[in-house]
Amino acid sequence: MPKSEEGAPLVRDPQSKAHHIDACLTSAVEYTKSAGFDRYDFENQALPEVSLEHIDLSASLVGKTMKAPLMIAPMTGGIDRAHAINRRLAAAAEHFGLAMGVGSQRVGIETVDRADFFKVREVAPSIVLFANFGVGQLAKGWGVDEARRAVAMIGADALFLHMNPIQEAAQGGDVDFRGLVPRIKALCSAMRAEGVPVFAREVGFGVSADAAKRLVDAGIAGIDCGGAGGTSWAKVEGICAKTERRRKMGLAFGEWGIPTAESIVAVRSVSARVPLIATGGLRSGLDLAKALALGADVGAMARPMLVAADKGEEALAGFIADTLDELRIAMFGIGAADLDGLRGTRFLRETHHASRR
Ligand SMILES: Cc1cc2nc3c(=O)[nH]c(=O)nc-3n(C[C@H](O)[C@H](O)[C@H](O)COP(=O)(O)O)c2cc1C
Repeated sequence: MPKSEEGAPLVRDPQSKAHHIDACLTSAVEYTKSAGFDRYDFENQALPEVSLEHIDLSASLVGKTMKAPLMIAPMTGGIDRAHAINRRLAAAAEHFGLAMGVGSQRVGIETVDRADFFKVREVAPSIVLFANFGVGQLAKGWGVDEARRAVAMIGADALFLHMNPIQEAAQGGDVDFRGLVPRIKALCSAMRAEGVPVFAREVGFGVSADAAKRLVDAGIAGIDCGGAGGTSWAKVEGICAKTERRRKMGLAFGEWGIPTAESIVAVRSVSARVPLIATGGLRSGLDLAKALALGADVGAMARPMLVAADKGEEALAGFIADTLDELRIAMFGIGAADLDGLRGTRFLRETHHASRR
């Protein structure tokens, strides 16, 4: 087995998934800086001309309808405990008509007997479901075959390619990111021919305008700008590190990243049309409303969903219902009857008094 400079194995231990879950159940993994939504306020409309009861949250992604523009961001899979969490999340996604992604399926592709621990279709037959693996694997030679296997493994509608250079560097993982654009282009083209949209997503350090342009030019079907201000993956790796050196390295980059609100604007400056998911530091329905008003098509949450799911099914359902109610009330407050009315609204303004959460 290859070793890192400290002697720790470089091949990922499936139990690291459990460490990530435990770390992410604590608030120590959160950024200190904000995701940027507090820099914006909606301008209240005293005569909104809509009925709160009739606000329409329906959305669509990869050609399928969702009851609301909210996604459970990819987190986990591949071990028994992760499977139980994913099944609980997926059942809630089915109930509320949300989209969902599973965590990196690398372990399920490399170790066939782990594949079953990613499956959720039994409890979520109709949701928009994303498969997932990292661009680091593409750089090492993965391609269409692995993409097909990831999608088939869970009956997915689309594939996420996650981009996480800073996380990989912090943990001493796959750090050769050369030559990826032509590989992404070839994969997108082959999967498009099979009717499988390929989205690229940052895990929480944000997508710049430059990166977005390269992705759009490569023919990506959509982008999740996964920005900073929520769960910091450098902090997670620092907290989970097996050596003092890696711990320090992770924490040194703990505040690295483009805040999510900024990243939404950056991606939209490159393409008005590319389907855009916004993840990273969305912590309420009001944050979700602001993400959509800034130009995202769908907002996604990871850690808040994990924390709620850990408390139980009821807590998870309550959290999602409250989030959607907040979104509805924000739309009511600016007179937006549906998502077309919220996106690009003239009633979102910069506050000029940014404050920390
Ligand atoms: C426990 C946990 C595991 C995660 N694992 C993955 C993963 O395997 N693949 C991925 O693309 N993102 C992964 N993420 C990142 C999230 O999808 C998301 O981009 C990030 O946590 C920021 O969102 P948040 O602030 O709402 O948590 C994980 C997040 C959590 C909390």
